[in-house]
Amino acid sequence: MPSLDDLKRPEYPRSSTYDAKWLVEADMGPNPLWLLEDLARDLDLRPGMRVLDLGSGRGATSVFLAREYGVQVWAVDLWISPDDATATFEAQGVGDQVTALKAEAHALPFAGGFFDAIVCIDAYEYFGTADGYLAYLTHFLKPGGQLGIATPALRTEIRELGAIPPHIKACVGWEAVAWHTAEWWRFHWAITELVEVTSARLQDTGWHDWLLWAQVCAEYTGRPSDSVTMLTADQGEHLSFALVTARKPG
Ligand SMILES: C[S@@+](CC[C@H](N)C(=O)[O-])C[C@H]1O[C@@H](n2cnc3c(N)ncnc32)[C@H](O)[C@@H]1O
Repeated sequence: MPSLDDLKRPEYPRSSTYDAKWLVEADMGPNPLWLLEDLARDLDLRPGMRVLDLGSGRGATSVFLAREYGVQVWAVDLWISPDDATATFEAQGVGDQVTALKAEAHALPFAGGFFDAIVCIDAYEYFGTADGYLAYLTHFLKPGGQLGIATPALRTEIRELGAIPPHIKACVGWEAVAWHTAEWWRFHWAITELVEVTSARLQDTGWHDWLLWAQVCAEYTGRPSDSVTMLTADQGEHLSFALVTARKPG
């Protein structure tokens, strides 16, 4: 079984400088820093920008955004207490750069045009597939502002498959209907003309990275993992992550 040392990966040089134990203990979903590091290759993040980390969970991605890109971060999450997240940001030395807030993704407490960028790592699938959500969310972006999401994805739409593949259904049930192809996301956003889609790609390494992360977490916690079972059965036939970025017309 892979161990914490296997989380140091040359493909993700920035993420590899972070304490693997800390990352695994903050686990709420697969490899958030790898996803963000890869997504950021398609974004233009500059020091001093205001960035919303939507669905920030325990906050590893917000720490990464603050440290790696020198941006000011608003870490917004529904399930994790902002007090716990704030303690993490202070302990990680980015307390002055990151503000933690509890908010529901449809009731964001910000002025229109407040953000230079919005990123969402492994959370958009919980609320972002509704047709009207892009219009709501982009209201908070400045003209020219950027949006980037990393979200579980399939190589073929479930609609085309005709059913949720059984090994995926056994793990996440109906929620897999929110897992789409990168091309689905490209069309879903581009057709609105609310944004210009700047990239929409399926990660080549997505299945492999996801399985490695799940195996390391299972090994570290000593608990059996439904994700390992699902990903092992999948063998990369269906599962990966989609990385999608867009810019609001400026
Ligand atoms: C799988 S976790 C990922 C957390 C973190 N981004 C990461 O990658 O470690 C999904 C996160 O989405 C957040 N979330 C789900 N539904 C939400 C909603 N309606 N509004 C705000 N946050 C939501 C949850 O609170 C949770 O922390």
